[in-house]
Amino acid sequence: MIPKISTLSGYLYEYQKSLANPEAFWGNIAENFYWRKKWDNVLEWDFDNYDTKWFVNGKLNITENIFEKNLFMLADQPAIIWEPNDPSEAAITITYKELFEKVCQFANVLKAQGVQKGDRVAIYMPMIPEAAVAMLACARIGAIHSVVFAGFSATSLSDRINDSQCKVVLTSDGNFRGKKNIAVKKVVDEALENCSSVEKVIVVQRTHAEVNMKAGRDLWWHEVVEGVFTDNVAEEMDAEDMLFILYTSGSTGKPKGVVHTTAGYMVYTAYSFINVFQYNKGDIFWCTADVGWITGHSYIVYGPLLAGATIIMYEGVPTYPDVDRFWEVVDKHQVTHFYTAPTAIRALMSYGIEPVNKHKLTSLKVLGSVGEPINEEAWQWYYLHVGKGNCPIVDTWWQTETGGMMMSPLAGITPTKPAYATLPLPGVQPIIVDNDGKELKGNNVEGNLCIKYPWPSMIRTTYGDHERCKNTYFSTFKGYYFTGDGVKRDADGYYRILGRVDDVINVSGHRMGTAEVENAINSHPLVIESAVVGFPHEIKGQGIYAYVVLDSASENHEVDKIRQSLLLTVSKVIGPIAKPDTIQVVTGLPKTRSGKIMRRILRKVAEKEIGSLGDTSTLLNPEVVEEIIEGAGLKVPS
Ligand code: WTA
Repeated sequence: MIPKISTLSGYLYEYQKSLANPEAFWGNIAENFYWRKKWDNVLEWDFDNYDTKWFVNGKLNITENIFEKNLFMLADQPAIIWEPNDPSEAAITITYKELFEKVCQFANVLKAQGVQKGDRVAIYMPMIPEAAVAMLACARIGAIHSVVFAGFSATSLSDRINDSQCKVVLTSDGNFRGKKNIAVKKVVDEALENCSSVEKVIVVQRTHAEVNMKAGRDLWWHEVVEGVFTDNVAEEMDAEDMLFILYTSGSTGKPKGVVHTTAGYMVYTAYSFINVFQYNKGDIFWCTADVGWITGHSYIVYGPLLAGATIIMYEGVPTYPDVDRFWEVVDKHQVTHFYTAPTAIRALMSYGIEPVNKHKLTSLKVLGSVGEPINEEAWQWYYLHVGKGNCPIVDTWWQTETGGMMMSPLAGITPTKPAYATLPLPGVQPIIVDNDGKELKGNNVEGNLCIKYPWPSMIRTTYGDHERCKNTYFSTFKGYYFTGDGVKRDADGYYRILGRVDDVINVSGHRMGTAEVENAINSHPLVIESAVVGFPHEIKGQGIYAYVVLDSASENHEVDKIRQSLLLTVSKVIGPIAKPDTIQVVTGLPKTRSGKIMRRILRKVAEKEIGSLGDTSTLLNPEVVEEIIEGAGLKVPS
């Protein structure tokens, strides 16, 4: 049994233990998993030339730890309860035994299609059980999955496929999302026009939309599994063999492929799941994220299944067919743990409490929040109206790169404080530094959040470019992993995440690099240059504000038409989630004499906070500032 903390003093004791001897601490937890061969050393690390190895030379397969290890106890227990988009369609329950068979069967299919250990497999799928089966089947045979959120555009998909040279793509014909019926396979077809590495595409039939099946390349999932054996011997993996790649946005360049490896990720996701959520056998856990994000990887698929939990997997959106759908599903499946993003809470809050009060919600025990800072108002609403004042909220701070939750209350154990992620999990050593990298000790301090010691599920590299990993995370503040987040430690020693301090914006809990959105906008033929910043948005947390300088040829077009066309371009290059909320056409961007865009000013205008623009005298073109302020509908301060 993975050790579970049950009291506050227990937490403090475990935390101290993890500081005093991290290797003994994690070694002890890792003992509770099934290893083909035990590790030699728990940890080898070096933050200067970034290299981290956990459970060195250990051999295992993560799916043996989900299935074989627990099957004698869990065989008939539901692993996945799948709730379809349309409530009139029946939910599907898949037991551990059935899931095991599906995973083995599909593992055999992948092998038969020539996928070998170490090959990369792209998964571009809606929220259907096959997405989880696909991930686990890859893990079973040692193939590295790269799940791409099915809302990304063909260009984004092909970039990701090419970056890691995926051999196979697993997808579906379409995707039912709310009222929409999205043509998923069509996006894949378009993406694959530029992907020479892909040999096979396997397509789940979900919507029965008409699709093009390319002879020799495309296969139907239901046809390839037919008659295939449902047993399979798992591939033996090294502790540090790659488990998956997940692309995420940073402050520069294209999204990078964050690499997670097998053993550390397994140990940490299971341990953090059980402890943060205080999971008990029989609990029904619902994480509303998409499998395309890290939250879906760690707390829909791996963490809960390693813990033997029953998960809800929901295909649709929070507001379909009505704004009370989440609460209806909670009652229908007697959900005990509900884990969602602040943006969803704020959106549902805007419909008032009547839709919530239509449902009992008495099964709920724990509420969770993830992905962005939760404002106090949303926290209180969640606590009072969804949790009826009886359910602790775990505000879990973490990142794609951290693999698992890093700071969070332990449900019902750590006293909570609205909008605070409270305290680090055992084994996590946060440190706050000022802009010169000096540690800010004590309480009542605010600065850059770093982590000073490795934890098992930390990023190992960025796929194909280790230098980039080193530069992004280990060079800003020497000797520390830099998160990119600002943080405050209050008088009680509690942590509150203040949001990104780099050029990453967080829109509805989705990370977006401003450079990435700018590049998309700049690809439009009428655009000379652009600058993108975030601004506070009531529902999304942050919205996207784009300042755009147009080519003289634009004079022949209506500005509104150009705006529409820019939105279309961003949707095509990245996906609809990256569409700016505001596009302001300007004649120039404020630049320093060295040619750098002064984003500070642009941020202030977007925030409508121009009272304190600061010093603009060093600008090359101070005259554009007034124009920008007026163009934003604001008054130039006298
Ligand atoms: C932000 C999502 C405040 C943060 C798991 C981080 C949060 C980024 C929280 C990572 C939280 C995540 N409170 N901010 N509880 N959780 N963030 O990689 O800025 O999609 O750096 O991982 O989301 O986003 P990512």
